[in-house]
Amino acid sequence: MIEGCRIFMNNLKWWQKTAVYQIYPKSFMDTTGSGTGDIAGITQKLDYLQKLGIGAIWLTPIYPSPMVDNGYDISDYTAIDPRYGTMSDFEKLIAEADKRNIKIIMDLVYNHSSDQHKWFLESKSSRENPKSDWYIWRDAKPDGSAPTNWRGIFGGSAWEWCEERQQYYLHTFATQQPDLNWENPDVRQALYDAANFWLDKGVGGFRIDAIVYIKKPKDFVDGEPDSADGSSAIHDAIANTSGILDYLYEFKEKVFKGHDIFTVAEANAVKPEELKYWVGEQGAFDMLFEFSHSNVMFPTGEIWHSWKPFKLTTLKKALTASQTATAQNGWYPIYFENHDKPRCVNTFLPKGADPIKAAKAMATVLLTLRGTPFIYEGQELGMTNVAWDSIDKYNDISSHGQYEISLNDGFTPEQALEFVHLFSRDNARTPMQWSKEVNAGFTTAQPWLPVNENYLTVNVETEDLDKKSVLNYFRKLTNFREHNEILLNGNYEELLKDDERIYAFSRSTQGSKMYVLINFTLDEVSIQADFLNRANFVFGNYEGSDKRRLRPVEAVIYEETF
Ligand code: NOJ
Repeated sequence: MIEGCRIFMNNLKWWQKTAVYQIYPKSFMDTTGSGTGDIAGITQKLDYLQKLGIGAIWLTPIYPSPMVDNGYDISDYTAIDPRYGTMSDFEKLIAEADKRNIKIIMDLVYNHSSDQHKWFLESKSSRENPKSDWYIWRDAKPDGSAPTNWRGIFGGSAWEWCEERQQYYLHTFATQQPDLNWENPDVRQALYDAANFWLDKGVGGFRIDAIVYIKKPKDFVDGEPDSADGSSAIHDAIANTSGILDYLYEFKEKVFKGHDIFTVAEANAVKPEELKYWVGEQGAFDMLFEFSHSNVMFPTGEIWHSWKPFKLTTLKKALTASQTATAQNGWYPIYFENHDKPRCVNTFLPKGADPIKAAKAMATVLLTLRGTPFIYEGQELGMTNVAWDSIDKYNDISSHGQYEISLNDGFTPEQALEFVHLFSRDNARTPMQWSKEVNAGFTTAQPWLPVNENYLTVNVETEDLDKKSVLNYFRKLTNFREHNEILLNGNYEELLKDDERIYAFSRSTQGSKMYVLINFTLDEVSIQADFLNRANFVFGNYEGSDKRRLRPVEAVIYEETF
C-alpha cells in the first residue's frame, strides 16, 4: 500500500468509509402479523445487513404519526409510533446494531409537523394562545382567497383555511403538514431538544428532511403561474431563502457539534457554489442530498407530466458537478434510490435491459463514485417499479396530487396514470422481498401495499444462494470499496465526457488509478479507450471484459498501478 493513501484513509471519518442502508420501516419486515413492518423486524434482519457490508441504517420516521405522508407528518417528536413498537424495541435495536458496528440514523422532519401535533392543535385554537405563532398564519386576501397562489409540493393550494382563527396556515407539503415557524426561538429550541433526546439514546446521526424550506421570505407574494389553474410552485417562492444559514449554524451549535455522528440534509436548491456554507468543516452539515442528478428528467420543475426523456450526458454532468464541488472540501452522499424515487433500473437504464445486469450496472456507479453510498432497501436485490391499473390502488399522497394536476392540465386518465407508473413513490415502497413465500416473506397478513409480482425470483433467499445474483454483487462491491483507498478517497475525473452512451470516469491516488465504464444502452458499443492500455480488469457485471467494446448495460472496473 502506498503511504500517502494510508494517510488519506486514516483521515476519513467512519461515515465516509462505510455504506449506509436506508430502511422504509413500514415496508421492511413485519414480525407481528399486522401487514406493516416494525422495529423488531429491523432488529431481526441486522445480520443480513451486516453481511451486506453497511455501517449505518437511516430509518425514515418511526415517530407517532397519523400517516397521511407515511410518518413525515409527526405528532410527537420524542416517541415511537405503537405500530412500529415501543421505545424499548428501539433501544434494543440500537444495542443490537451497535454489536454489529452499525449506527442508527434518525430522520428529523422539522419544516413541518402533523396537524395532529399538540403544538398545532394549540396554535390553531385561537390567535392569542401561547403557541399562536408556532406555525405560519396569514390573513386572507381582501376577497377571502388564500394569501398567495402558491401550490404545495403535493398539489393543491399551499394554504388551508382555519375556522377557529379565521386565518390561513401555510403547508409546503400536505394540508395535514403545517409548516413550523422557525422565526420563533421557542420553536427552534423545542426542535433542538427533540434531536438531543435521540442523541442521548445513542443514535449515530440524522437525515434532515426538507430543510431548505424552513426560512420563509419576508414578503409573501404571488409567483408566476406554471399550471393551468394559475398556481405557482411553492418551491420557487421559499426554497433556500436568504438568512436560512443563521438557523442552520445555530442548529449545528446546539445539537450536532461535538458528537461523533453524521448529518445529511435533504436540500433541493443548494447550488454547487453555495456548498461551502452547507457542508464541510465550516458548513452546517456533513452531507447534502441534492437533487440535480436524481431529477434529470425534470429540468423545469417537478410536475410529473412535464418529464423529459432521460439523457445520459445530463446525468453525467450533474454527477461530475457534485464530485467536483466536493473535491477539496465537503463530502457527498451518493444515491440513485430512496423512498421518494422510482427504482433506479427503471429510471436510468433502457426498457428491455437484462434486469440483473442493469441493477449491477447501477450498483457499480453507486459504489465507485467518491462519497458515502446510500443503498435503499431492495436496491441490493434489483427490485423494480410496479404499474397498478388504477390510481385508487396507490397509497402515495403525491401520486394522487400529481394525478389531479395531470387531469387539470388536460391529460386523459390513462395518461395521468402512466405518469404515476413512471414516478410514483410507491414504486420504492412495495414490501421488501425476503423469500418465495407468500407476500415475499414480508408479512403473514395482508401487506399494507401490494408486493411486487417479481418476488418469486427477486428475493433475498434466492439471491443469497446464487453467486451471480445482484445481492452477491452488492456484497462484493461494498466490501471492495471499504478496503480500497482509491475508491474511498481517490480523485475523480470524468472521461469520454460527450459520449451519450457510456459513463466513464477514473479515480486515482498517487501511484494507482481505477477506471469505471458503464454502457447505458442496449447496444454493444465499441470504445476508443487508450487509457485502458496498461490497466487490468478487476471485475464487472459480465464474465470477463474486452477493452475495445462494452456489451449491453455492461459495467467494468479496471485498475492500473504505476
Ligand atoms: C421529503 C421526504 O423524503 C418525503 O417522503 C416527504 O413526503 C417530504 N419530505 C415531506 O416531509
